Amino acid sequence: MKTSYDVLIIGTGIAGLSAALALPKSLSVLIVSKDYAWECNTFYAQGGVAVAKDAADIPLHVNDTLEAGAGHCDLEAVKTLCSEGPRAIQHLIDMGFQFDTDDVGNLLYTKEAAHSTNRILHAGGDATGRYIHLFLMQQLPFPILYNTQVTDLLIDHSTCYGVRVSNNDRIFNLYAKKVVIASGGVGSLYEYHTNAKTISADMQGICLSHSIALRDMEMMQFHPTAFVLGNSVRKQLLSESLRGEGAMVVDEEGKRFVFEYDPRGELAPRDVVSRAIFKHKQATGKEVYLDLSAFSPEHFKERFPSIYFNMTNIGYKVPEQRIPISPAFHYAMGGIATDLHGNVLHVNDLYAAGECANTGVHGANRLASNSLLEGLVFAARVAKEIIATFDDRKLPCAFSETEEVLMKENDKVLKNELRHLMWNTVGIIRKTKTLHRSLNRVEAMLTQPIGRLLKLRLLVSREIIISALKRKTSLGAHYMKEEKTL
Ligand code: SIN
Repeated sequence: MKTSYDVLIIGTGIAGLSAALALPKSLSVLIVSKDYAWECNTFYAQGGVAVAKDAADIPLHVNDTLEAGAGHCDLEAVKTLCSEGPRAIQHLIDMGFQFDTDDVGNLLYTKEAAHSTNRILHAGGDATGRYIHLFLMQQLPFPILYNTQVTDLLIDHSTCYGVRVSNNDRIFNLYAKKVVIASGGVGSLYEYHTNAKTISADMQGICLSHSIALRDMEMMQFHPTAFVLGNSVRKQLLSESLRGEGAMVVDEEGKRFVFEYDPRGELAPRDVVSRAIFKHKQATGKEVYLDLSAFSPEHFKERFPSIYFNMTNIGYKVPEQRIPISPAFHYAMGGIATDLHGNVLHVNDLYAAGECANTGVHGANRLASNSLLEGLVFAARVAKEIIATFDDRKLPCAFSETEEVLMKENDKVLKNELRHLMWNTVGIIRKTKTLHRSLNRVEAMLTQPIGRLLKLRLLVSREIIISALKRKTSLGAHYMKEEKTL
């Protein structure tokens, strides 16, 4: 098998595939996928893609993004996202992608929380991510190496030359002049999450092991409306667009209690609604539901076919029956620090785009449906940067091909303990004392005889906890509960 390429891309979500599609076919490009290509967060994205509807909407999209981000966004990153977004969407449409339209072909825009106007495009009703993923895969001119776990980055003197991988129990190196990380976030660190099973923070951990900076790692987003009952690892998301189009969050008595926390009620930013649900459950000990009675059965089935199918399969008669909900981990605002061209800071020829990256675009709380747009916009920028800096130098293909043991016997027990600890103490509401306790436990786990993959998870968990401890006051998704001093 060929082991040397012009460009290696790690990940098959919207960012990885978009970067690949924006590269010239004359380059040799390999995409590395940990599992099947569809096991990525893009595939499971329901609601849609936020995009300014016209030039006048761009500053409004900027404002909504900044406001949801709680004043912590990078203004230039937000302006880039919102102003380059319409072109990225038009490019997708020009390639042949079909968003949902009305009978005469006008694009349909829906509303989601914290957007001041309807600007969310969708496809297949509530299957936007799946439709985009399939479409991008169909256009792809480059090969994908499946079932391939990246175990390390090959870095020497601050330059990246490729990755070490495990494929079919064989460890070997793949060399490349340019390496793009587009591997998604950190969902599997948490007990309850909406992410694909492949999303387990490996690349973020590898970056930490090379002292590559992660930024804003305390900023973890919890989606307010997930169905978390049942044994599936990935919890069923109940799209924000349900609330945008009339679904209500109610308690057992049918009371819309979110208004007691924020005058915008169910349409307040995600962090606000998640905390309201979490606190209400804690305070009353009662169940919280998503009430779908605003929808007629026919319209619901047509507009939200995937949610209809999934919930019916589980045994709920929707929209007639209300669904028990809980917040669940959904998205990492924090990630590998990059500039606005996707360059990983202080490492040559290494790039990151999409959820794994942190450009500062989401601040302390991502605005709903900005992530697919981020994947499109910033992946295109990465491809442009690669093309602009590409040269024909020879690669030094002489890195060791030995690797630590990836998994050890006791890892599963510790992995589950970690997921429980992260959910309970580094989740929606955090306290200094319990964060310290969790940090000590994570440090202790790191000293045990564990496999490399668990070690990478622990490194990232430790980073999240340390970042949470450093930010002493609440901001956006990072909420510190005041502790009474004795
Ligand atoms: C959703 O459909 O609620 C998810 C959209 C997003 O995460 O932006």
